Amino acid sequence: MHILDGSLLLTLAQLIAFVSAANPIGPNPNAKRGLVYIPNKDHPEDDQTWIQPGSPLTWYYNYDTKPSVALTGGATNLQFVPMLWGDYNNTFVQDVKDAIAQGYKIEYVLGFNEPDNPSNGGSGGSGVSPQDAAARWKESIQPLAKLGIKLGAPSPTGAPTGLDWLQSFFDACDGCTFDFIPLHWYGNFDGVASHLGQYTAAFPNMTFWFTEFAFDHQDVEPTQEFFNLTMEYFDRLDNVDRYTYFGSFRSDVSNVGPNAAMLNEKGGLTYIGAWYLDKDETQAASITGKGDAATFGVSTSKLLFMTTTVAAVISWIL
Ligand SMILES: *[C@@H]1O[C@H](CO)[C@@H](O)[C@H](O)[C@H]1NC(C)=O
Ligand SMILES: *[C@@H]1O[C@H](CO)[C@@H](O)[C@H](O)[C@H]1NC(C)=O
Ligand SMILES: *[C@@H]1O[C@H](CO)[C@@H](O)[C@H](O)[C@H]1NC(C)=O
Repeated sequence: MHILDGSLLLTLAQLIAFVSAANPIGPNPNAKRGLVYIPNKDHPEDDQTWIQPGSPLTWYYNYDTKPSVALTGGATNLQFVPMLWGDYNNTFVQDVKDAIAQGYKIEYVLGFNEPDNPSNGGSGGSGVSPQDAAARWKESIQPLAKLGIKLGAPSPTGAPTGLDWLQSFFDACDGCTFDFIPLHWYGNFDGVASHLGQYTAAFPNMTFWFTEFAFDHQDVEPTQEFFNLTMEYFDRLDNVDRYTYFGSFRSDVSNVGPNAAMLNEKGGLTYIGAWYLDKDETQAASITGKGDAATFGVSTSKLLFMTTTVAAVISWIL
């Protein structure tokens, strides 16, 4: 297996070198673009996709206070951004100090994940009241500012409750400081543009990170169109400092619909996955040597091909 994989990789590497030389889409680190790391315990090999040489990704977060060993070092050396996910007893300040002592370059941390979303709803919210969040913030996050670390506010959902929650939290958290506001968005492009407009109006001098976004549960075409428009928008805007597309998992385990995923069901890059890594769609799936041609981008033509082939075979048999 290993020998076979190795020879396959060499062939692919040569192919990639050829394709990159012929293709102007080049590997440039993108200071804004990062990874929401969602590990797949059945497929740890998928991790390699995110740290391959030439990747534009520059940073990651994993909803956790400690770095992921699988993403440490490598060709890309992604910068780790720790998060205190919710309101619980924790060792966040110490974990961050430990990571710095171990040589991790920690410049930013992230506050609570979707605190306006109930924690018992199964939708990933941490369900914290603005008052409890403020008390926890003062104890577990604010001390990091003294180390020169930039603090990201709690990341509210894209619902109207999000902005209300954040405003109550800012009011409750006297003496607290915030350097940027992380936002989430699930919906279409007009939606994300107006969402950002609303937050920019509410907090004119703030910068924003989009730490989760996708047009979820859509057909391939609108999913990809949203992706294209949003990436161009975020790359261009001065008040969007960083972003992480959601997400970095296989289509068959995606909770935002299969078409939003960056990996197909075999672990190969989808078209969106390829574009996120600054590759063109001819480099989808085959780039990792793990899958067929991207399931999503070419599904219609593949289906057509199969139908045509089956029809031809049937007519031949008859
Ligand atoms: C919080 O964590 C500390 C240190 O691990 C422990 O001593 C303490 O009992 C914990 N408190 C609660 C309420 O869980
Ligand atoms: C934003 O910054 C400008 C220029 O530094 C300042 O005049 C203004 O008061 C600030 N606005 C808010 C809401 O902080
Ligand atoms: C998205 O962008 C890629 C190139 O980056 C292009 O090939 C594709 O047609 C675009 N798709 C849509 C729906 O805009």
